[in-house]
Amino acid sequence: MNLQYTDDLAKRADSYYQRLEEVKVAPLWRIPGTTDPEPKVDEVPHLWRWNDLHPLLLEASEVVDLGEDADRRALNAHNPSRVFGTTHTMVAGYQLVEPGETAPAHHHTPGAIRFMLQGSGHTIVEGEPVLMEPGDLVLTPSWTWHDHRHEGTEAMVWLDGLDVPFVKAMRAGFYEDYPGNQLQPLTKPEGWSIRRYGSGLRPANDEITTPHSPLMNYKYEHALRAVQAAETDPHHGQRVEYSNPQTGGHVLPTMACYLQQIEETRPLRHTSSTIFCVVQGEGHSYLGGQRFDWSRNDFFVVPSWTWHKHVAETPDAVLFSMSDLPLLEPFHLYREELG
Ligand SMILES: [Fe+2]
Repeated sequence: MNLQYTDDLAKRADSYYQRLEEVKVAPLWRIPGTTDPEPKVDEVPHLWRWNDLHPLLLEASEVVDLGEDADRRALNAHNPSRVFGTTHTMVAGYQLVEPGETAPAHHHTPGAIRFMLQGSGHTIVEGEPVLMEPGDLVLTPSWTWHDHRHEGTEAMVWLDGLDVPFVKAMRAGFYEDYPGNQLQPLTKPEGWSIRRYGSGLRPANDEITTPHSPLMNYKYEHALRAVQAAETDPHHGQRVEYSNPQTGGHVLPTMACYLQQIEETRPLRHTSSTIFCVVQGEGHSYLGGQRFDWSRNDFFVVPSWTWHKHVAETPDAVLFSMSDLPLLEPFHLYREELG
């Protein structure tokens, strides 16, 4: 049909689109982005500095009483483009527990990792006391009971990483306090999962009963040794993945964790998004063409499909990172481009 543009036709089109709205449908030809040749990402690169946030975290212990006002003293880092979430899938931030304090047990469907930055203390995971020391990676997987206890003398601070934005997007967020809103009983000895899984061995009659790693604590000394024994990759430096000792897979079904020592990496971008934390050393990264200088305990976000490269300014620069790669792989949605 050869339509001639007339006032009548324009009126008819207006009326048509209005009637579509009324019945809650939209014409595909008017929806932007449906034919984008590559992802258009709302999230932007950003860096959070320890020197900016640490004083504010300490101040939180003056204004927030743990147990009374809040059951966790944590500052969540939100991407400048978002109301909630460091990326569209993950949220990171610092958490502080002062000496003598406890954070009562709870569990939730979002899974979490903790990367220890300062001080030492315990997280209890499913009855197992897990000693957290600087550089350790501790897991509190989805729906596992966890509480935090600090018997030391120096404030303990760690980087939290959770898959909350993803779980919320899936409309699958559940949360429950431990009965009585208290600490959970200890049912295993300290270091139980390290003894069972931390030496490259596993029980011969072991059964896989969870989708996450059964090892709750990855000690820094072991991880750093593995990094220093790794081959150098031009895009990642010397990089190791914290792996599930039962399967060789990622530590959590929603998040993968890595440790890498770098000099200068070549640029790359991929469809997974990543949050990096500086474990030691100083340097800078180019994220989406913008330079971000970093030093110990700073963390920064590299959104999906954003070019990035890292440059160390000291010979000992080590980065920890968490990635949402496991969410993409099952659907063959992971793509990367190497520069
Ligand atoms: Fe929690």
